[in-house]
Amino acid sequence: MNNKPKIAVFASGNGSNFQAIADAVQAGKLKADLALVVTDRPKAFVVERAKKAGIASFAFVPKEYDSKQSYEEMLKEKLQSLGVEWIVLAGYMRLIGPVLLEAYENRILNIHPSVLPAFPGKDAIGQTMASGVETAGVTVHYVDAGMDTGQIIAQQSFAINGRDQRMVEQEIHAIEHQLYPATLQRLFNK
Ligand code: GAR
Repeated sequence: MNNKPKIAVFASGNGSNFQAIADAVQAGKLKADLALVVTDRPKAFVVERAKKAGIASFAFVPKEYDSKQSYEEMLKEKLQSLGVEWIVLAGYMRLIGPVLLEAYENRILNIHPSVLPAFPGKDAIGQTMASGVETAGVTVHYVDAGMDTGQIIAQQSFAINGRDQRMVEQEIHAIEHQLYPATLQRLFNK
C-alpha cells in the first residue's frame, strides 16, 4: 500500500529548497510523493531543477488571470485532480488566498529565513542584518492568511558573530536545506 503523502512544492526562484526536498525524497529520508512543482515565474531556475529531477512542473503567469481568486481556483483544480494533499511553499513569493487556504486548511507549509515573529515579509535576511540583532535563523510554519504569521513548527537560530550578509545567507540556506526536509518528514509521519 502506498500511504506516502502527495505533495506539491510552490517556488518562485532558484529552488534550492525544492532541490533539498527532492534529494531527501530520492534518498528515502523524506517519505513523500513529490507530485508537482508549481511556479508563478515560468523562467525560474526551479523549472530546470524539476526537469532534471524528473518531477512534473506547472508554470502560470498571475497577471493573465483576473484575480488571485481565479488563478487559485485553477491551481486548486489542478492539485485536486492529482490528489495533492499538502502544499509546501519553498521561496514562493506570493500570499496564499482564501481559495487555497480553505481547500488545504492546515496543510500548507512555508519556510522563512528569519526567527519569526521577527522580520516577516520580503528580504528577511536584509531586515535582520539592518536591525543589528545578534542572531539570525530559519522558521518552518503553517500558512494562514497573514504574512508569515501561521503557527510555528520548527526554528533554528545561530549567532551572527560579526559575519557579513553573504555569509549569513549561506548559513541560512545550509540550515534550510536540512531543516525543511527533516521537519516535513516528522510532520508527515506523526
Ligand atoms: C529561501 O531562503 C526561503 O526561506 C525564502 O526564499 C528563499 C528561496 O530560496 N522565502 C521567503 O523569504 C518567504 N517569505 P530557494 O528558491 O533557493 O529555495
